[in-house]
Amino acid sequence: LNFNLQKERSYILQVLFNGLRRLEYRGYDSAGISIDNSSSPRPLVFRQEGNIESLVKSVYQEVSSIDLNLEESFAVHAGIAHTRWATHGVPAPRNSHPQASDSGNEFLVVHNGVITNYEVLKETLVRHGYTFESETDTEVIPKLAKFVFDKANEEEGTQAVTFSQVVLEVMRHLEGAYALIFKSRHYPNELIACKRGSPLLLGVKELPEDNNSGPAFQDAKFLSKDGCPKEFFLSSDPNAIVEHTKKVLVIEDGEVVHLKDGNVSILKFPNDKGRHGGTIARPASVQRALSVLEMEVEQINKGRYEHYMQKEIHEQPESLTTTMRGRLIQGGSCKATTVLLGGLKDHMKTIRRSRRIVFVGCGTSYNAALAARPILEELSGVPVTMEIASDLLDRQGPIYREDTAVFVSQSGETADTLLALEYALDNGALCVGITNTVGSAIARKTHCGVHINAGAEIGVASTKAYTSQIVVMAMLALAVGGDTISNQARREAIVDGLYDLPSKVREVLKLDNEMKDLAKQLIAEQSLLVFGRGYNYATALEGALKVKEVSLMHSEGMLAGEMKHGPLALVDENLPIIVIATHDACFSKQQSVIQQLHARRGRLIVVCSKGDAASVCSGGSCRVIEVPQVEDCLQPVVNIVPLQLLAYHLTVLRGHNVDQPRNLAKSVTTQ
Ligand code: G6P
Repeated sequence: LNFNLQKERSYILQVLFNGLRRLEYRGYDSAGISIDNSSSPRPLVFRQEGNIESLVKSVYQEVSSIDLNLEESFAVHAGIAHTRWATHGVPAPRNSHPQASDSGNEFLVVHNGVITNYEVLKETLVRHGYTFESETDTEVIPKLAKFVFDKANEEEGTQAVTFSQVVLEVMRHLEGAYALIFKSRHYPNELIACKRGSPLLLGVKELPEDNNSGPAFQDAKFLSKDGCPKEFFLSSDPNAIVEHTKKVLVIEDGEVVHLKDGNVSILKFPNDKGRHGGTIARPASVQRALSVLEMEVEQINKGRYEHYMQKEIHEQPESLTTTMRGRLIQGGSCKATTVLLGGLKDHMKTIRRSRRIVFVGCGTSYNAALAARPILEELSGVPVTMEIASDLLDRQGPIYREDTAVFVSQSGETADTLLALEYALDNGALCVGITNTVGSAIARKTHCGVHINAGAEIGVASTKAYTSQIVVMAMLALAVGGDTISNQARREAIVDGLYDLPSKVREVLKLDNEMKDLAKQLIAEQSLLVFGRGYNYATALEGALKVKEVSLMHSEGMLAGEMKHGPLALVDENLPIIVIATHDACFSKQQSVIQQLHARRGRLIVVCSKGDAASVCSGGSCRVIEVPQVEDCLQPVVNIVPLQLLAYHLTVLRGHNVDQPRNLAKSVTTQ
């Protein structure tokens, strides 16, 4: 085949590169692939620092000088690829994956996760004469595979072990979290994947049923034993699979997927962690039905928008509607609305009787829980405490059997939140998951939960998931609070507010140009403060987080009640300060904060309810952003939108990457 930079002519490369492009939001500091080469048994490996397109470019530059004809030369082709978010070792080709056992690429591995005992393994391997090239934890894995392979062959003769036996033995030595795919020159046309902790999906595409094949299938060359051509996809994330097939198997911890000559088998690692004396473990075979991905390819395209973050901000009226769909049930003669959260119905009594509800999350998900805390306390009467997942683990904070612990996570895979969940399970709490990802580890490991159904979120900065999380937790508060006469009016007001919310968000999105104009004014600033309180303390934290993570401008969200206890020292006529002062029970206190800032010539931008502009700015000059007023507990959903828009426009104007902010990743699956 003729490779050229404009067009990916090789089907194998096209599939691998497109898969990487779909995964790029999860890590994008370096990337690599390995494919087979017809003229030599040694698999080709390409690794490159930078984003996926840098890898694509370098691969095509290199392969143009090689006589590489993938489709013609192979009846089966097993390729692997990886995009990296550096944890161990700087972004550099030597630290990119696939990591290799040796210069002959005997064993190659791509890895998502972190191997916690890699130093001990490395020492042992070094003692056995292995030399290491990278600073990664991953490099021990292919080297260990080679060690196991060589040892078995020395003891029992050539090819004494199967590929899966090698991998099972390697797994016995690994501690930490991982999803791994192995490729080896000793086992051509085979791939092995396994996992513990990190997510892994197997996608199965069969022809002619899923009749949308690449050139290889059209030639019916990829025939499995049953005569049916198949393509298999292994990925951490459905986004890389859905354009090929919706039929997937969620791989479980300890399972080993073996792809060989166009067939798949799944083995389960025996549940004994002890060492065994030299013999290779015998695994049991696993049979499970495929499940169907509930997502569409269009969801993961940018559509008419320039960036995913922009698209996701603007689709919030729709995502909020989807989040509420089927959950607010108008019923009976009294026309009261019942909140139906199907995933919680068997546990509602336990939640109501809890001694405490503990929200656990990281980043934006933590902020969403913070926004919902007051309404949950108010309606349920149960004390609600907040835990940042890593801090709960650091402190080994008390969690009791009588607690309900609610784990909030867009991805459902965040390592800190997942470990905090395991900790809460060990302590006997009822564990509830609130995630956006069906089949995610948090969704599976919690006792019960609610999916926020916001649709795939690709922009690293979370936007629509945040607002949908708040809405789910407001519905949770209504469901836990129950239907008493005393809270009836309040409940009705919240339910009405929920119904109106998508249209109010649509209205606030009209501030787009105004926020762009504000971004132009702030473009060269070094720093930005955001003050909020009550329901909108979370808005201050989340607004500041959005600005700092994508526009790379220093920004801090602060509790307005704490202003005079320190932050006031920063106030002068230069530092821009956003104050959230929409109309709620804290309004008069926020007015007084504004007066104090005016008195110190603060440079103010005030977010207030429509019609309040004159009163909030009475004591000095300020720029006002007027937003529609909604029920107080839902106001954070409306108030965050202008700040999301501000962060977006600041980023574009400052020339930074909106969807792949420096050093960040969408889903942090390592501690
Ligand atoms: C990462 C992302 C954040 C996200 C946080 C929690 O840090 O960059 O945007 O809020 O993880 O993710 P989760 O998937 O658990 O909500």
